[in-house]
Amino acid sequence: MIKKIRKICCIGAGYVGGPTMAVIAQKCPEIQVTVVDINEDRINQWNQEDLNLLPIFEPGLSDVVGEARDRNLFFSTDVNKAIDEAEMIFISVNTPTKTYGKGKGMAADLKYIELCARQIADVAKDDKIIVEKSTLPVRTAQAIKSILDHTGNNINFQILSNPEFLAEGTAIQDLHNADRVLIGGDHHTVEGQKAMDALSSIYAHWLPKERILQTNVWSSELSKLTANAFLAQRISSINAISALCEKTEADVNEVARAIGSDSRIGPKFLKASVGFGGSCFQKDILNLVYICRTLGLEEVADYWEQVIILNDYQKHRFADNIIKKLYNTVSDKKIAFLGWAFKKDTNDTRETPAMYIADYLIDDKANIAVYDPKVTERQVFADLDYLETRQPDQNRKHVSVYNNPYEACKDAYAIAIITEWDEFVDYDWELVYKNMKKPAFVFDGRNILNLQKHKEIGFIVKAIGKN
Ligand code: UDX
Ligand code: ADP
Repeated sequence: MIKKIRKICCIGAGYVGGPTMAVIAQKCPEIQVTVVDINEDRINQWNQEDLNLLPIFEPGLSDVVGEARDRNLFFSTDVNKAIDEAEMIFISVNTPTKTYGKGKGMAADLKYIELCARQIADVAKDDKIIVEKSTLPVRTAQAIKSILDHTGNNINFQILSNPEFLAEGTAIQDLHNADRVLIGGDHHTVEGQKAMDALSSIYAHWLPKERILQTNVWSSELSKLTANAFLAQRISSINAISALCEKTEADVNEVARAIGSDSRIGPKFLKASVGFGGSCFQKDILNLVYICRTLGLEEVADYWEQVIILNDYQKHRFADNIIKKLYNTVSDKKIAFLGWAFKKDTNDTRETPAMYIADYLIDDKANIAVYDPKVTERQVFADLDYLETRQPDQNRKHVSVYNNPYEACKDAYAIAIITEWDEFVDYDWELVYKNMKKPAFVFDGRNILNLQKHKEIGFIVKAIGKN
């Protein structure tokens, strides 16, 4: 008999927890889903009546939340109550790269996970299934289990790994139509198998059974890191080739199309860019590298580290190119940034290439004018200040954030396209050109513009991986 879950709690109402639980609640109306977070502001935003004001911008999310909220989807700050009532608890808290002590800059910081495990241990009065949703280093489940099993209150905790593969900007689509769901657990015990089946039956509400894969816990944890490492590696590979294309007569889009037509390689994730950003790729690879080094696998660690090195190179190369083309200095020159988010259709800016490129240009005394359809001024400055490269007032002196793209581009010496927002393509580029300093440069970091058209207007255009 498959255990029927009636109450779920999810700790962490962020980019992973929020959308994932909203979809589970939408598809399983008989299950009560409570998402809890210690951040009161965030919970208030999830409870906003106006669905346009949810804390996360994600296409389709407001419809899903609108359908399930207050029916069987609840957002709350009462973490203890939700833990106590739930039969299944998802841990969906952040696991950033450690910024201190052992493993600084490399290992995942598990302090938030550990706090959750301790809180569950304190509060739980009956058996629970604990599901790791956050990306975690291999064998974290063991650490969680050891904390939970030492509570001495004879409660049976089953720990499952159920990594999330959704990409931001397409989260709802990815959840509704997942390529696969991975559930790692303890096959060897009846209780372990039952827990895996209980979680599988939740996803089976809307996904075909063959897409729900069960593995052991360690394979599941490692598969998440490996999937992200492979995806990031493809981007670094095509970005490496883009540098070569710029030195030759080759065009990186043509190369990507040619190799992508080979069914063994496939066409996806071959877009050359200013470099990858986002909360996962860099963090997960650093984590993988750290684990390999800890286990004495130096060559394996070096191999994966190169993906990050190449990504840093690509961001610098883009910024460097702007300086070189603008006659070796951008001092006091206005450079317009179209886009700040790490990709289109999201307001997320974690590890966005924009902040590193801006930082590099500010070192050369540029004045940066930012326009992004979804990112706030507050966020732009928070990102730059987070880098701690200079005093916050210096960031404010060199950066202005605009609500209007035409204003951002007015009197600029150059435009840098950082994010591939669709709207950028349809601007009145003749008007943009007219209001810029001449010669007017465009650096297309996403290869979204029609180069020929822009050249005809009068722009000097530099695109990634094109000569
Ligand atoms: C990624 C994984 O795709 C997802 O499975 C995992 O759960 C979390 O990490 P996400 O970071 O949201 O998702 O976005 P993704 O679409 O993977 O893009 C990551 C970065 O790579 C972005 O900065 C994007 O612009 C860049 N990218 C992506 C490229 O530069 N070229 C490409 O061809 C694809
Ligand atoms: P992700 O992209 O992994 O979802 P986010 O940073 O967007 O990461 O979300 C993680 C959320 O987890 C944050 O809103 C944070 O406040 C919350 N969180 C962290 N630790 C705890 C905790 N111990 N209890 C409840 N919520 C927590």
